[in-house]
Amino acid sequence: MNLPLNISALSLQLPPASPQFIALYRPDSDGQAVHATTQELTHGLLAAAAHVSPKFFYNELGSRLFEAITGLDEYYPTRTEAGIFEAAHGPIAATLADAGIKRPCLIDLGAGNCAKAVTLIPHLQPRQYVPVDISVDFLRDAAEQVQNSFPALDIVGLGMDFSAGLALPEEVQSHERVFFYPGSSLGNFHPAQALQFLQHIADPAQGKARGLLLGIDLVKDTARLEAAYDDALGVTGAFNKNLLLNINGLLGANFDVRQWRHVALFNAAESRIEMHLEAACDLAVRWPGHERRFKAGERIHTECSYKYTVDGMTALLRQAGFKHVEYWTDPNNWFAVFWAAV
Ligand code: AVJ
Repeated sequence: MNLPLNISALSLQLPPASPQFIALYRPDSDGQAVHATTQELTHGLLAAAAHVSPKFFYNELGSRLFEAITGLDEYYPTRTEAGIFEAAHGPIAATLADAGIKRPCLIDLGAGNCAKAVTLIPHLQPRQYVPVDISVDFLRDAAEQVQNSFPALDIVGLGMDFSAGLALPEEVQSHERVFFYPGSSLGNFHPAQALQFLQHIADPAQGKARGLLLGIDLVKDTARLEAAYDDALGVTGAFNKNLLLNINGLLGANFDVRQWRHVALFNAAESRIEMHLEAACDLAVRWPGHERRFKAGERIHTECSYKYTVDGMTALLRQAGFKHVEYWTDPNNWFAVFWAAV
């Protein structure tokens, strides 16, 4: 079909500028990074109690599976946090304004699909938006979507593994930085590491931050916690097992996903959800230069997701050096959003 050309309509539909994008994490192309990844994975898989960092969940498929998790009935954190932001965006914006923060640089740690920031941007009116994620290609697409929604916004996408350090390139505006760390992703760190990470952000010489907007999942009854990490559809199980496919790709290993079971349990003494992969039978896994045998029932520990109390997180933020802490929560007290000012 021949459509009539309408020049003025066409010019209005010109695509917005593409976001800047800087890929610092290239585990499969940069020689040094390949070596470090191989070492890290080999070390964890050969340990007496095998373990793999949860950052290896997030290849392209893993990021999509996590996105699917956030829509599950059992997985309450994402929608509960969104509800808090919806109810409190006025007070949150006012708190930042009262602190004298205008047109901040919003640094979104573990941005994923950037959905949380998109709801916040109209209220915080950042001068620059910096989504950061280890899932480089997934983030590149998401950053383009954000640019479509906010054509005039200065966006600098960063594909990087910030669990290894938070050295931000000079393209990131160095004044009025507000770090945004939603979704309870801080829960992936052990408390001592979490403290270090928070100290780094709170240190004016390091993070150059004015403050941190932090989403944290709270301690609650075990059944609700465990259901959130072991849903009826098996999406979280698929997300957990996909880690083995990612390792096969990164390491040239021969994990057979069908030989593994998904395990999620709340460790109350440590206040954390643990995810494991459990061998369903005696088996062996091989990758160049190495072999690891697993007995039936033996596990690979793939994730810790720490749950905090409001008081516990307030104390941790203070200990990290933040001067002022406030928080908002949902009516059930399932989740909390903290503002910690430097
Ligand atoms: C992205 C780390 C916040 O711990 O709840 C979801 C990851 N793992 N289901 C979480 C996750 C299993 C998630 N974080």
